[in-house]
Order: sequence, then structure tokens, then C-alpha cells
Amino acid sequence: MMARKPIITEIQHVHDALESTIAMLSTRSDAFITRGEFVTVTDSTQDLARAHSNDQAGLVVVAGRQTNGRGRLGRQWADTRGLGVAATFVLDAKTFNTEHLALMGALAAHHACTDCMLDASAQVGIRWPNDIVERTNQGSGCKVAGVLVEVLPTSEGKRLAYLGIGINVAHQSRDWPEELKQIAVSLHELGSGVDRAAVVRSLINRVQWACSRTLEELAADFTQGDVLKGTYQGFVHDGKVYEGEVVGIDPASAILLRTQDGGVRTLPALTTSLIKT
Ligand code: BTN
Repeated sequence: MMARKPIITEIQHVHDALESTIAMLSTRSDAFITRGEFVTVTDSTQDLARAHSNDQAGLVVVAGRQTNGRGRLGRQWADTRGLGVAATFVLDAKTFNTEHLALMGALAAHHACTDCMLDASAQVGIRWPNDIVERTNQGSGCKVAGVLVEVLPTSEGKRLAYLGIGINVAHQSRDWPEELKQIAVSLHELGSGVDRAAVVRSLINRVQWACSRTLEELAADFTQGDVLKGTYQGFVHDGKVYEGEVVGIDPASAILLRTQDGGVRTLPALTTSLIKT
């Protein structure tokens, strides 16, 4: 009897993409990511990465589906339902401080998305500090990807950073829960025909790329993707609300805002947050 040809499922392609990208990276002496783990379903890749890191940096955990993902500021990241990419990278928190990690995550996610948008009809950019969004005439549209940085101690007193990145890939409008319908979008909805395997490959390579850039290089790169410059926004700093036109953002230091009196106010990036409208 003729042996049946194995059916290679989409999830197998995602798994293979992770393995082959790690195999390539681990031959390099400058690699920051050298171990990869794929899981079909998990609550949060952040927790799995912590449990499986062996207290060592260099691991990336990718989930086929994530059911209880965490977002920034105590929010939830919706169940990826096998349509998105959820990945956590374990990095050394001594090498990269939290601001550096947040910027690395933003640029890695931004480039991973733009790498995958070649055949797309839309463009994506970065909404400070690290949301990846569709670019619109008003600046920023629906969110395509998000970044979460968590820094935690190991049992030996070291500190490891867990850089979590979620990218919406293959969702269609019917796939979004009601509360996300107006604020979330996937690469497919933006016209890209990319598959999750390609997104995983690109994301890992882009995190490696971001790890090898200085804070200044990343900050300069950020300005290319910045969707807020030239738009009217509100920010909170020190309990006070500031509104005006964003003149520029240096993610490593300050937000420059032209206020109604015509003056330019400098808000420290570290302690300011954007009011989303
Ligand atoms: C945000 O925009 O609020 C951040 C979203 C971060 C989601 C990713 S998905 C992979 C990793 N695991 C999580 O539980 N969260 C991050």
C-alpha cells in the first residue's frame, strides 16, 4: 500500500518557521536569540517563557494560540484564536533597560509588519510608545500589533526581561469581539496575503536586529514610523493633561507639543502617557 503523504498544516509551518529561524540564528556569534519553543495553545507566552527560560536569556516562545494574553497597563490581549502571532523573547535586563526594550519591541514589531506588507494596500506606523497601527490621513488608525515589557527577577537574583509581541495576522472582521471591532485590524484586513509562518520568521529576525542597535539608532528609526507627528493629541504628565500638535517625539527622551498659546512644551517620555481618543 502506498504511504500517505503527511498533510502539512498551517500550524506545522509556523512551528517549522520558528525552528529554521532559530537554527540560522544560533550559528551566529552575535545572536541574542538562540533557543525557540513552540506551543500549540497556552494562556500567555509571557508566563510560559518565564517557566521555561531556565533563568537564561536567549529563548523565544511562540504560541499557535494564546487564550489569556496580557496587554500593557493591566489590559488583556484578546485570544489570538489561531489567527495571530503571540511571541515572548527572553532577554538580559542588564543589557537592555525597560525604555530600550520598549523601543526595541516597537521597532521589531513595526519592521516585522512592514516586511509582511509588501503586497498590501495600506501602510502601518508606530503610535508612541509602541502600538503598531494602520496609517491614516488623521495619523493613526486601528491597532495591528502591541508590545509588552515585563522585567522579573530569577531565583539567582538576576533580572530577565520578557519582551512580548502580539501581531494580528489573519483575522477577518467577523473574528473580532464586539469591543475590538473599531480598534483592531489584521495584516490580512490591510491587504497583505502573508501567513503566520512568515510573520514569525520576520519577527524573530527583527528582534535580533533591534537587539544589535543602539538606543540612538533605534530612536532615529522610530521617527520614520511615527504616526503622531503633526497630529493633535492629548497627553498626561504629572496628573495634568496637555493638548496640542505633536511637533516631534524622541522616544528615548521627550515629546514636543505645540500648545494653544503657540509655545512648545517638552514632556518627558518616561513619565508621560498618550490619551487615546
Ligand atoms: C499591548 O498592546 O497592550 C501589549 C500587547 C502584548 C501582547 C503580547 S502577545 C505575546 C505576549 N504574551 C502576552 O500575554 N502578551 C504579549
